[in-house]
Amino acid sequence: RATLTALFDPETGWLDRRVLSDESLYQLELERIFARGWNFMCHESQLKAPGDYLISYIGEDQVIVVRGADGEIRALLNTCRHRGNALCRAEQGRAKSFVCSYHGWNYALDGELIGVPGQSTFYHGELDKSRLSLAKARIESHLGFYFATLAEDAPSLHDYLGVTGRAGLGMICAHGEIEVAEGVQKNIIDCNWKIAVDNLFDWYHVPYSHASANTAGFLDIARIQFPKDQMVMLGEYGHAIGGPGIPRAAQDQINALTDAQRMELSHAQADMAPRIRPRAATDLMGPEGVRSEGHPNIFPNLWVTISGTQMCLRLPRGPSHTELWWYTLVPKAAPPEAKREIIRRMNHVFGPAGLLEQDDGENWSQSTRSSRGVASRTLGHNLQMGLGHDEAKVGAGGEHYIEGLISEHGQRWLYRAWTEWMSARDWAELKANHSAPPTGRV
Ligand code: FES
Ligand code: FE
Repeated sequence: RATLTALFDPETGWLDRRVLSDESLYQLELERIFARGWNFMCHESQLKAPGDYLISYIGEDQVIVVRGADGEIRALLNTCRHRGNALCRAEQGRAKSFVCSYHGWNYALDGELIGVPGQSTFYHGELDKSRLSLAKARIESHLGFYFATLAEDAPSLHDYLGVTGRAGLGMICAHGEIEVAEGVQKNIIDCNWKIAVDNLFDWYHVPYSHASANTAGFLDIARIQFPKDQMVMLGEYGHAIGGPGIPRAAQDQINALTDAQRMELSHAQADMAPRIRPRAATDLMGPEGVRSEGHPNIFPNLWVTISGTQMCLRLPRGPSHTELWWYTLVPKAAPPEAKREIIRRMNHVFGPAGLLEQDDGENWSQSTRSSRGVASRTLGHNLQMGLGHDEAKVGAGGEHYIEGLISEHGQRWLYRAWTEWMSARDWAELKANHSAPPTGRV
């Protein structure tokens, strides 16, 4: 524990670079963060009918997320109980059962082992199939978003998300009923997963890293302002939201729109910018709502973009690689041409064909690479921006926030949570020792 807490000092913002490169720390992350946390699996719209499935991950454990004949969504580990072969090779599809391609063991949609070739002959009728069902992960949902954990002792998803995590998902659903567009875009960047996550809170880089997007006419950097009305929200267990806010008066105007007016506006703008987000400040985000919006991160690795129309999983693939899965979310009721337009625009923002993440990815990659050098890895990262100058307050919705956006409070919160998760032996210890969201001078 002492060694782990020495890797990040929240008082000075010093981060040991080995956090971004060390193989043994990575193995511990798989156990203590990914296996224990609630990992995003899918949105209910991705599994419409019984037998619909997709592959997802809890760290490096592959999971079949499948809607059973009874309509229930389950998370089954994608590994045959005979010799460990991956049962399901397709990324998504519809199945009646899962037959292993090695020796033909057959599993029902609920994971039960229902068929074994040679059961009465080669096994002499002695194989106890009832003990060889597929291993299951716990799965729970909030607003149609399904998450899974391998920890029996983890709190409920609702409690785990807390005000900040629930507000993050609420920001998406405040668009109305949504669905995931066909085709999750997947690509690998040579970077540690945490750098891809902590960039969410980094608005300092935008004018500089994305100068090329400005030159291309995609971003108008001169018009990006960071007034006081913006903030970073910090939640329990490491969830956070960081991003430009919208003035309360503008939110009130949005809330006054009728559904028809809002839908018209949504279609006209197609990208559903936050300013047309309905109800965001009310029923989905606490009694009084939060008055600012941004990119939420559901700890550890589900990134939601500020528009609420894209989400990304930062999946760990070793200390130096991260697989990014980009989802586009569209309102269910939108006409096909509006959906197409949303998808077209989103493809130009983040993701492998987007203009922004290519700039970011190159920087993350180089920061990760230099964390491996014998001399350079001793230098640490400096995350001191805003330290001691800002005040954490509590909003009427119970959210903890810091006014102003350009600081490194979000990054410090992330690495503080990382240290706490990595140091705790079990959920009881994590619950007892994790930091409550701050109040006062931070
Ligand atoms: Fe699956 Fe043998 S490994 S049937
Ligand atoms: Fe960026």
